[in-house]
Amino acid sequence: MVMKASVVKAVNSQINAELESAYLYLAMSGRMEELSLPGLARWLRLQWEEELVHAMKFYDFLIQRGAAVKLEALSKPTADFKTPLAAFEAVLEHEQYITDRIWKLNEVAVKESDYALQSLLKWYIDEQVEEEDNARNAIDSLKLVGKDGSGLFLFDREMGQRTAGAEGGEQ
Ligand code: FEO
Repeated sequence: MVMKASVVKAVNSQINAELESAYLYLAMSGRMEELSLPGLARWLRLQWEEELVHAMKFYDFLIQRGAAVKLEALSKPTADFKTPLAAFEAVLEHEQYITDRIWKLNEVAVKESDYALQSLLKWYIDEQVEEEDNARNAIDSLKLVGKDGSGLFLFDREMGQRTAGAEGGEQ
């Protein structure tokens, strides 16, 4: 079934949003390195890779459906956070924005009766629940740690245990 132009446009726009997410997390990772928090930097760097996977799943979907990929410019990311807590609050806010976009994309898929896109989006809808949960867990831990340097040191080490493909820092 040929994809409708409005659906192709919406998917291309989401590819851009996922690539911007990647770019944002890479900038945040660099900032965590600056703040001497290598564990959080690693966690965010893996998140960068994960966002590239999110973008590429949409990219491959367009190719498979015989639709054209149209890449747009990326915005300059903001990552001059004073604290890791501020950074992870921004992560949560960003993921909530992405969830909103995914749900709206699903509305387009439903409106245009694109069942293949609806099927693909199930994965993203579930993924966003996990993404928001990870950010909330990190915020909760960072709030508990507060200004306690040794607590932050341990939390940073824990977050640094994340392995590629694993979502949380707890593994
Ligand atoms: Fe691809 Fe973090 O949403």
